[in-house]
Amino acid sequence: MNEHPRHRLTSEGIRLHEPADFAGMHKAGALAARILDEIIPHVVPGQTTEELDRIITQMVEDAGATSATIGYKGYKHGSCISINHVVCHGIPSQKKLKDGDILNIDVTVIVDGWFGDTSRMFVAGKMNRKAERLVQVTHDALMLGIEAVKPGNTFGDIGHAIQSYVEGHRMSVVRDFCGHGLGRVFHAPPNVLHYGRAGTGPVLEEGMFFTIEPMVNLGRPETKILADDWTAVTRDKSLSAQFEHSIGVTADGAEIFTLSPGGRFHPTFSV
Ligand code: MF3
Ligand code: CO
Ligand code: CO
Repeated sequence: MNEHPRHRLTSEGIRLHEPADFAGMHKAGALAARILDEIIPHVVPGQTTEELDRIITQMVEDAGATSATIGYKGYKHGSCISINHVVCHGIPSQKKLKDGDILNIDVTVIVDGWFGDTSRMFVAGKMNRKAERLVQVTHDALMLGIEAVKPGNTFGDIGHAIQSYVEGHRMSVVRDFCGHGLGRVFHAPPNVLHYGRAGTGPVLEEGMFFTIEPMVNLGRPETKILADDWTAVTRDKSLSAQFEHSIGVTADGAEIFTLSPGGRFHPTFSV
């Protein structure tokens, strides 16, 4: 028992939020998702990722919100943009997108103190079939992970749902990065692993807020960090994809805070 119901923590240090807190997360999540919807027409061959980041940062400012990534551990940009074999934390640069490039754009905003963190895959021009398959499997894996979310299930159930699906398609789940608790903070307990065994790990409880953000590779799961200290790439240079939602555990399942307002959650709908 805890005498301060507004500050309930599990023994694993996972915060249990109040019903009223869902509205704050919904607002932050909706902004992050709308920004990704609105960046779609700008993702074209010849575009630089620096320009995409500039547009995103402007949209955050126009909404009266704050970017969570600018100044975070020395990071200087309003988004991470990860192209092809970049797994995550790609730094916006003057590099131009080429026809057929697939890219993940990850945006985290703060609205009234609440964090909304989401990422999706985009394509510049036309996506080839191998890339399309990877993107589809990665999105399906995220949604299957979310389907495993309800009070009484465990974090291991989420990881197991994702891993078994991905490996069933002979792709691999990245182990070096994970999802995370969030809320009034960016990164909080627990580490949300995208692999694991059913029935293991902390038990899910109503009021937990966290991200699920599986990274899936066409080749092997190993990654390495480039000399810029941020960019994570696949060691075997194989193509990588990622989708991320921020969610809250409800009485009987999950609320997704970062659903696309325009239903444009997948590059197939990015035209
Ligand atoms: N948004 C990323 C996540 O999903 C974190 C980016 S941190 C940054 O947790 F500094 F690289 F932007
Ligand atoms: Co995240
Ligand atoms: Co993110």
